[in-house]
Amino acid sequence: MCGIMGYAGAGNAAAIVYNGLLRLEYRGYDSAGIAVMYDGKIKIAKKRGRVKELSAFCGELAGNVGIGHTRWATHGRPSDKNAHPHSSGKITLVHNGIIENYPKLKEELIASGGKFASETDSEVAAKLVDKNYDGDILEALIKSCKMLEGSYALMVMCEGFDGIAVAKYKSPVIIGLGDGGNFCASDEPALAGLCPGICVLEDGDFALITADEVKIFDSDGKRVERAVLENLAEEKSLDLCGYPHYMLKEINESPAAVRNTASAFSSCGKACEILSGAKRIILTGCGTAYHAALMGKRYIENFSSVHARADFAGELRYASRTAEEGDVLVAVTQSGETADTVEAARLYGSFGAKVLAVTNSPHSAITRIADGVVYADSGAEICVAATKSYSAQLAALYLCACVAAGGDVKAREEELFACSDMLRSFIERTDVRRLAERCSKSSAVYFLGRDLDYCAALEGSLKLKEVSYVFSAGYPAGELKHGTLALVDGKVACVFSITDPALAEKSASAVEQVLSRGGAAAVLTDIDGVKEEFGGRAEIISLPACGKYLAPLFSAAVMQLLAYRTAVILGRDPDKPRNLAKSVTVE
Ligand code: F6R
Repeated sequence: MCGIMGYAGAGNAAAIVYNGLLRLEYRGYDSAGIAVMYDGKIKIAKKRGRVKELSAFCGELAGNVGIGHTRWATHGRPSDKNAHPHSSGKITLVHNGIIENYPKLKEELIASGGKFASETDSEVAAKLVDKNYDGDILEALIKSCKMLEGSYALMVMCEGFDGIAVAKYKSPVIIGLGDGGNFCASDEPALAGLCPGICVLEDGDFALITADEVKIFDSDGKRVERAVLENLAEEKSLDLCGYPHYMLKEINESPAAVRNTASAFSSCGKACEILSGAKRIILTGCGTAYHAALMGKRYIENFSSVHARADFAGELRYASRTAEEGDVLVAVTQSGETADTVEAARLYGSFGAKVLAVTNSPHSAITRIADGVVYADSGAEICVAATKSYSAQLAALYLCACVAAGGDVKAREEELFACSDMLRSFIERTDVRRLAERCSKSSAVYFLGRDLDYCAALEGSLKLKEVSYVFSAGYPAGELKHGTLALVDGKVACVFSITDPALAEKSASAVEQVLSRGGAAAVLTDIDGVKEEFGGRAEIISLPACGKYLAPLFSAAVMQLLAYRTAVILGRDPDKPRNLAKSVTVE
């Protein structure tokens, strides 16, 4: 979270950085700012609110070197003064991350006469670099970073230096190598169409970026080389292609994500080797990725005799302190940068477990930690709420489970190809507007299911609450009668997913429990008997018959569309839900 961008070159820095920030806005959108160097002096514009608030000021910021920031507040509420960049003396910087020891550093800086203009931890870094600056910005930055604890991606401008100094530790920085100028940014989408090549900085790296060159240094200030990689960011992923929101566009891209994930699987040889030797598989992730991990656990246990477990990445470190021979940690993460997931992977790697990443970000931190990578190939996801990346993760984990079981992977890939086509026409014809109207007026919406349908229910609930702000919760259908039923009345809606014929009767009795208490029920099902039983009494959403393992791809599409439509009815911005950001790089 927090998007940062820098540019040094022949072009108009303010305009380039502004456009980069617009593309990074999914990382945070409570305030934004840009600093540009002109004639050796730095000028700043910063404001509370979205990046577009800066457009009026860009014309006033002439110059060829600039940095910018779009914020997701951690320390200090969103305000003009807490917006980045922060300055001290000749130094102006933007920061993504958290400086954990900032209270102590701030106290020391105040004791030596420092005055602070904001409540942020980041301003401490500006003061520190200023204090350590003695004519050499790289030296000052290296010295300052030795005093920082926590995580940081810093882009620093210094009056007298016609470029940007960069530091990276546990927050991502990509360097873009352009023709006539160079770039730095939190994420590749900011660089789409700007440069053919990129370098990914490693933890402890520093860089000096000018119009003509990029120099990278290690933590002792020694020059190092980092591989030049192809810039994979595509401008088309930033194009709404006629859709009103990225969320709707990306839900419609789920079929392609499933297909591409199945196609890409043949190149995951190393990952397959690891999975084939697994004795125990621990799956982990956060939020939506955790829900995919929960589904993956069920796939593995249904297909093979390998023991599987799924834990929240943020909790995993408290769950177990060791790994055994044959343990494989599967880290599921769209961004590949989520701090809790990356740290869990690092920890299990240090215990001796093999680490496998399931991600759609090939240049991300998790891919550098992992022993093997499976591409959940959904392409860049711009909407803060995960949609197509979840579908891709389910497809990837379905194939992983098949490998762990020593099964026929080719056959499973074919199933996914067929499923991708069915999903495309299913999304085109599925209309959830009536149910969304109902949800928008409900005091709470409960999502219920058993086994795989329970995992789907958890994700449906997360989606609805995060984009519509309607209270929702996901439960196993069998749990309803053990407490939550007390909350069911005429103002509550319950969304059931019933796709396993062996469990249908039991889930159906939970639907009856809701209906007989005056609650409204919707049933997502591909089972004819269930449709007949509840037709006319509950809203029936017919799923195509595809078997219980792939049904979650269809119920996910329904629940994503439901969340989207409910958000739109309530006037929310589904692409940028309040208080949230994509790529959560703080623990
Ligand atoms: C919800 C959502 C989040 C992410 C979570 C993990 O729609 O997007 O819950 O799934 O923050 O992010 P990644 O997958 O990037 O590790």
